[in-house]
This record gives sequence, C-alpha cells and structure tokens, in this order.
Amino acid sequence: MIQLRGKKILLAISASIAAYKMPELVRQLIKAGAEVKIVMTPAAADFVSPLALSTVSKNEVLHTVHEANSWNNHVALGRWADVMLIAPCSANTLAKLANGLCDNLLCAVYLSATCPVLVAPAMDEDMWEHPTTKQNVARLVGFGNKIIPVGHGELASGLVGAGRLAELDEILAHLEAHFSTVPKLLSQCSALVTAGPTYEQIDPVRFIGNHSTGKMGIALAEVLAAQGATVTLVLGPTSERVTHPGVEVIHVASAEQMLLACSNVFPKMDIAIFAAAVADYRPENVAHEKIKKAGDTLELKLTKNPDILKTLAAQKSPNQVVVGFALETQNEEENARKKLKEKAADMIVLNSLRSPGAGFGHDTNMVSIFQNDGTVQELPLLSKTETAKAIVQTILTYRNARKMFKD
Ligand code: PMT
Repeated sequence: MIQLRGKKILLAISASIAAYKMPELVRQLIKAGAEVKIVMTPAAADFVSPLALSTVSKNEVLHTVHEANSWNNHVALGRWADVMLIAPCSANTLAKLANGLCDNLLCAVYLSATCPVLVAPAMDEDMWEHPTTKQNVARLVGFGNKIIPVGHGELASGLVGAGRLAELDEILAHLEAHFSTVPKLLSQCSALVTAGPTYEQIDPVRFIGNHSTGKMGIALAEVLAAQGATVTLVLGPTSERVTHPGVEVIHVASAEQMLLACSNVFPKMDIAIFAAAVADYRPENVAHEKIKKAGDTLELKLTKNPDILKTLAAQKSPNQVVVGFALETQNEEENARKKLKEKAADMIVLNSLRSPGAGFGHDTNMVSIFQNDGTVQELPLLSKTETAKAIVQTILTYRNARKMFKD
C-alpha cells in the first residue's frame, strides 16, 4: 500500500452498524503510513467508540460543529485532506449530502471539502434499492464523488442481499487506486477474462460442476486492472471476491451463459484470457422437478457445450491477443500444443494437476506458456498473483513484438 504513505485521509463516519469496522480500517491506514483525521455524526457514536477511533488514529475525533466555547473548523478540515472517505455512509447521510443539507459537522465538512470524495454506502437492501437512494447516489456521482460499490451478503436486518459496506480490503484498494500514479502499461487497453467453474443444471437442485475457484482468473483480472486495463471478468459461481475497482464482474452459471456474456464484449477487447474451467458437456434435458431416487442406476444424456475459446478465437481480429489455458493430467505438453493449434489461440497456459501446488483451489500455480511461434516459457511454482504478472508480461512482450513486426 505504498500509495497511501504520507496521504491525509479524512474519514467521515455516519450511523450504520458497519461503523464498528472503522477502527480496524483506521489501523490499516495508519500502518500504511497515512495520516487520518475523523469526523462522525453524533448518532455514529452509538455504533463505534470515539475513544477507540481517537486512540488508533492518534487524533481527536470530532462530531459537533461547536463544543462548549470552541468551534470545529469544518472548512479547514475539508481543505486539509487529500481525500475524504465517507464510510459507512448511511441512507440518511447519503440523502443529506445529495441535497446539500448541513445540520451536522460531517455534512458541513462535505460541503466545504475541496478534495476528492469517496463514498462507501451501507444500508439494508430495501433502502439501497429504493428509487430515492438510487437518485441520491446518481446525484453524488454527478457531483464527481466516487461511489465504492456495496457488497452482497448478510445484512443487519438478518436478511441477505445488497447493501453491505464494502469489505475493508476493497475500500483500501479503492483508496490505493485513487492515489496510484505509477505509469500504467495497459491504460489504453481493454481485457476480457473468464474464471471459475461452470454449473450445468441437471434439475432444480443438482448440477455438473468442477473444482475451479476462480482464483487464477481473478488474479489475472486484477493484475490487468492494476496495469490500467479496463477489465471485464466473466465469472462462474464462486465465493472468491474481486477487490480491484477496475474490474467489472459479470456473474454467470453455465457455459452457454458464459459464451453469451463473452460474445457481447469480445469484439471491443484487445486481450482475452480464458482461464475458466468450462464444462465440456451439459445435460441434454434439464428436469423441471427434482429427480427422484428410483433404480440402482440413473442415466443422464449429455450434449456438447460450445467451446467459448474456440468460438471467439475464430472471430479474432489481427490486433487481438487470445490466450487459453490447458488443465491436463497426462501428456501435458502434447495436449497443450494440440489445444493451441485446434483453438487457434495466440498462447496456451498449461497447468498440470500432477504438479503439487498447481491447478484448482491453490493460492499457487506452476505453468508453462506455449506461444503460437513455438516459444515455450516454463515458470516455477509461484503465487497465482505472481503467475498472473508473468503471463501478463508475456502478453505485453508478444503484443509489442507483433506491433514492431507490422510497423
Ligand atoms: O480457478 P482456480 O481454482 O484458481 O484453478 C485454476 C484453473 C486450474 C481452473 C486454471 O488455471 C485453468 O487451468 N483453467 C482452464 C481449465 C480447463 O477447463 O482447461 P481445458 O483444458 O479443459 O480447456 C482449455 C481451454 O478452453 C481453457 O482456456 C478453457 O477456458 C477453454 N474452454 C474449454 C471448454 C469450453 N467448452 N470452452 C472453453 O472456452
């Protein structure tokens, strides 16, 4: 989190149950070398202790415009900060900010702030989905504020849905991305990545799937986004999370849905990486009701799924780079070369289930990259992020070489 070193962050906390997470966020910001000042609405103190916040931030926490005979200078605070982060931002505070209300210190600071403002909303799903909230969010975006997307999951009401405060690592990633000044190698580039398994429905309760977690594809999407690419990640069912704000995630379940989502965006992509473990076959007929236990055996007739990589590689323009994966258990190299040719990819990234620490589920992978000019690059066992960095570097070199050759 090098980008946060020395940065002045004004954290504004409103009354939401998620406020209890803020001391940990402040601790991480301080650890990253940031300076943190905090304002909160009076009601936020019911959810998180100002004493805990002032202890971790090493600064006094302010919640009223004036205390006794002194006045808290909201203008100075708004001018001091490099960025104002409003987290959690309740529905009430969101509405006040969107409409210029100024009945507490947090709102006064917001109206005075000359720095960029990041807003991390948190509320129950019904409130989040309400047209008024949507309008208020749109107004804040219109004012140039950045909205950190809400998460999906268990809410304070006990219901499950959208409206959770983004996870702390996502908020930190948004702050980092905000301050990032590193020259980006892919800032003019758009990239498509597929990741995760596909689920092929058998009946309303069963499916054919595989052990892919999506970790490899997510790492690729995040590395591409970190290099400035605009990334679309078409993601099969997984509990893994994507933290980089530059990645747009399209959730799908089946191979057919994955193909449709990819086909819609593929023509405008510069790079496409197919890391998903797509089921080759799906049940020919999906039962509308749960299949009941009957005889000792059950026959399922399967039909071939579309090959997403092959279908799209056949449509690729000369400027696009298409990369596939090959997951093998035997004759690895031979099969990888065969897939490279048959699927007309520019590269195939081979990983074998015979290599310890490689393939499904691990945080590590060991791959070899086969290029269509016959070059093979063998990588050691690395974290999936380091593997993704090496793959992206190879793609960059390949693109540059192709460009030079054309020029
Ligand atoms: O998700 P993780 O748990 O991190 O695991 C990572 C991984 C092992 C899934 C990943 O590294 C990997 O190897 N992905 C490809 C798995 C696979 O299905 O390989 P394959 O050899 O069956 O397919 C070859 C290529 O064709 C792949 O790029 C695949 O995405 C693509 N394909 C396959 C079938 C199909 N119907 N459509 C496709 O696009």
